[in-house]
Amino acid sequence: MSKLWGGRFTKKTDQLVEEYTASITFDKELAEEDIQGSLAHVTMLGQCGILPAEDVEQIKDGLLKVRQRILNGEHEFLVADEDIHMSVEKALIEEIGPVGGKLHTGRSRNDQVATDMHLYLRKRVVEFVDLLHKLQTALIGQAKANLDTILPGYTHLQRAQPILFAHHLMAYVSMFGRDIERLQDSYKRIDMLPLGAGALAGTTFAIDRLFTAKQLNFGRVYENSLDAVSDRDFIVEFLANASLIMTHLSRLSEELILWSSTEFQFVELDDAFCTGSSIMPQKKNPDVPELVRGKTGRVYGNLIGLLTVLKSLPLAYNKDMQEDKEGMFDTVKTLQGALQLYAPMIETMKVRTDKMRKAVDQDFSNATDIADFLASKGLPFRQAHEVIGKTVLYCIQNNKFLLNLTLDEFKQFSTLFDDTIYQVLQPESVVNARNVYGGTATVQVAAAIERAEAVMAGTSEWVAEYAEKSR
Ligand code: ARG
Repeated sequence: MSKLWGGRFTKKTDQLVEEYTASITFDKELAEEDIQGSLAHVTMLGQCGILPAEDVEQIKDGLLKVRQRILNGEHEFLVADEDIHMSVEKALIEEIGPVGGKLHTGRSRNDQVATDMHLYLRKRVVEFVDLLHKLQTALIGQAKANLDTILPGYTHLQRAQPILFAHHLMAYVSMFGRDIERLQDSYKRIDMLPLGAGALAGTTFAIDRLFTAKQLNFGRVYENSLDAVSDRDFIVEFLANASLIMTHLSRLSEELILWSSTEFQFVELDDAFCTGSSIMPQKKNPDVPELVRGKTGRVYGNLIGLLTVLKSLPLAYNKDMQEDKEGMFDTVKTLQGALQLYAPMIETMKVRTDKMRKAVDQDFSNATDIADFLASKGLPFRQAHEVIGKTVLYCIQNNKFLLNLTLDEFKQFSTLFDDTIYQVLQPESVVNARNVYGGTATVQVAAAIERAEAVMAGTSEWVAEYAEKSR
């Protein structure tokens, strides 16, 4: 069969042009959504009396057969067919004869492709919420197992104040929680039906867009036909959300990489999640977090790529927009890979409580607390800060830590010191002194875990409900 649009042409398409303009090599990924959309469209055509019932039945039957052939791997995706839409339509006509040509009544590939993308991304967003929820579950599991594990907290990558390891992990639970909220919010802008917009202006057939929307479970239809076929904002939004998720994963990756170095030894990733060196027998490399960190770049690239495609693009459809797909598929694949590995990697990670403790015992991360001690005795905090700065300098010059100083030594710096200071300086005291909402005190972190779990229970319900809605 020649091209579905071949009537106006007197010459065969140049072979290189055919290859250059085809999208079938990647948009075959949309086969299921394309058929889903066509089934709803043809049902609507029947409902509105645009096609007779027997044609509708034949077309539906044929579409189901094409779907089965694709699932069986019996369908050939040919560059000559250009894209998934014409590939399916041609297969349908081959299957049921010329009546298959009635499917495209009142429709254009422009509203068709947009519909496919909406259907596709709607499912993916629910899957990503689910994957993020699994990662949160893994992080919370480690947090609960480490509710009394103390490590130095850092600012400027310099030891700052001791914190609970659980508190550190819960920071990521919050970050991924915001990512979940963003994806959930984006759902309502993906959950919109473009079909019925035709090529750009609507259609001369008396179609019922709301009926089609209902068939496909879309919450609403696009208001404006030009906007419907021109809009790729929902993909940009997905890529932006994916970029932020990758940002968060890359920050966690960086910490895992640092923490598993010999210099830190705070955690040990399970052997199953590491790889070795072909020359250095001693090596165990954190390849997974490294690759996640590295792959963040391509996700940002896909976002900037699509924004640039859309910038200054006139309404309505332009072939440029075919460039929306590869970056989106690549982002989906990249994010799936990262999230699928991350949850079990966190779950199986060994936490070196002893090493963390040793680090806390050999630093000055309790210095703020003696400054606070002096301030609570009435010394203005600014002066207390100065006094403790000098005390720390004395320790460094004498190779000591604060807890190694005698009371006489402390008193050289301020007469306000008494022997309760030794209790104040204990890492547990330092941590539990930060007993404010959102702080690192054990009771606060335990409460934060409880609150997070309540929100996560809601996320599970959302996933179950929307997995059903977006099918
Ligand atoms: N393969 C095209 C794309 O991905 C489908 C829409 C084609 N529409 C057109 N008028 N050429 O954007």
